[in-house]
Amino acid sequence: MLKQRKSIVGLDIGTSCIKAVELTREKYDHVITGYAQIEVHHESSRQDAIAELMAAAKFRTKRVATAVSGKNVVFRYITMPHIKDDKLLQAVRFEAGKYIPFDVDDVELGAQKLDAAGDEGSNEMKVLLVAAKKAVVQDQSRMLTDIGLQPISVGVDGFALGNAWELGDMVNPGLQEPGRTVALVDIGSTKASINILRDNISCFAREVPIGGQDLTNAIARRLGIEQQQAEELKRDPGDQGEIMQEAIGQTLEDLGNEVNLSFDFFENQFDGEVQEVWLTGGTSLLPLLEESFEKSFEKRTKTWSPIEGLKVKADNVDVEALNQLSPQLAVAVGLAAAI
Ligand SMILES: Nc1ncnc2c1ncn2[C@@H]1O[C@H](COP(=O)(O)OP(=O)(O)OP(=O)(O)O)[C@@H](O)[C@H]1O
Ligand SMILES: [Mg+2]
Repeated sequence: MLKQRKSIVGLDIGTSCIKAVELTREKYDHVITGYAQIEVHHESSRQDAIAELMAAAKFRTKRVATAVSGKNVVFRYITMPHIKDDKLLQAVRFEAGKYIPFDVDDVELGAQKLDAAGDEGSNEMKVLLVAAKKAVVQDQSRMLTDIGLQPISVGVDGFALGNAWELGDMVNPGLQEPGRTVALVDIGSTKASINILRDNISCFAREVPIGGQDLTNAIARRLGIEQQQAEELKRDPGDQGEIMQEAIGQTLEDLGNEVNLSFDFFENQFDGEVQEVWLTGGTSLLPLLEESFEKSFEKRTKTWSPIEGLKVKADNVDVEALNQLSPQLAVAVGLAAAI
């Protein structure tokens, strides 16, 4: 049974920025009782950065929910005979070897039935299979326990996004119209995570290996400047807006095209249309991103805040930073919400 006032920290260990959001359930409310984020510049400093961040945030709990992502995680869509939920994982484990590029014994597997509404009468079902290298999951858990944390779950970014969205739906009833198909797209530093939800059920997840770092690289190349300077200019172009737009134009177009390919795949496979696109991730803070993607997707495209409607314990949270950077926190919020 759920205990009241249970706290959990969603810890999103991003490539360039670590984000931590503590959610506490108080009766019927979800309250943000802590928040911190810190940029990391080298893989080697990640563990120290997490320890520093956790100490600074003064969280109530050491229980953390994290995720793995990148090339050690694969998503596959498989069609298989109908199987009861409690036998699903066992059956998928049996089939997985045919579909994933790793040895089944070396991976943690997750499975989710898709398209529950559409398959009545059919004796086949579509299943989304997620496989993450065991060694990666174990290394990450060890890294966290070494600094005194209690890792309690390991998810993937795309599904965390879906959980954050569902939480938003729960705390803001009536805001989202039922029956819609939406694409959540989180654009980080090295990748964009996509999750397409139909009526709040995840139907499609994928990662595209393009992100904010590629934009910074394009600016540095175009202007012949150092990375650090290009990064600053990207965030605050001042009077260089035009040249900056020009510098990042091609990369944004490439990213938009890749995301569009995922929409096409979904639309072909699942016989539905993505109606709206909702952006998060640090790169969604880029001015004009909504506008540029709206043109490329030809769909309503907006940035969203995963903390909308949540209460905040203001005496332990920098509320201004939280509000300003909230789109960057979607994965962290979703990880905490899933528990
Ligand atoms: N105000 C801003 N304007 C534009 N880009 C920004 C802004 N603030 C942060 N970014 C970019 O957002 C990215 C970091 O976002 P985020 O924290 O979502 O990524 P991450 O989780 O570390 O990366 P990944 O998900 O790829 O592992 C960086 O590329 C950074 O340059
Ligand atoms: Mg990220």
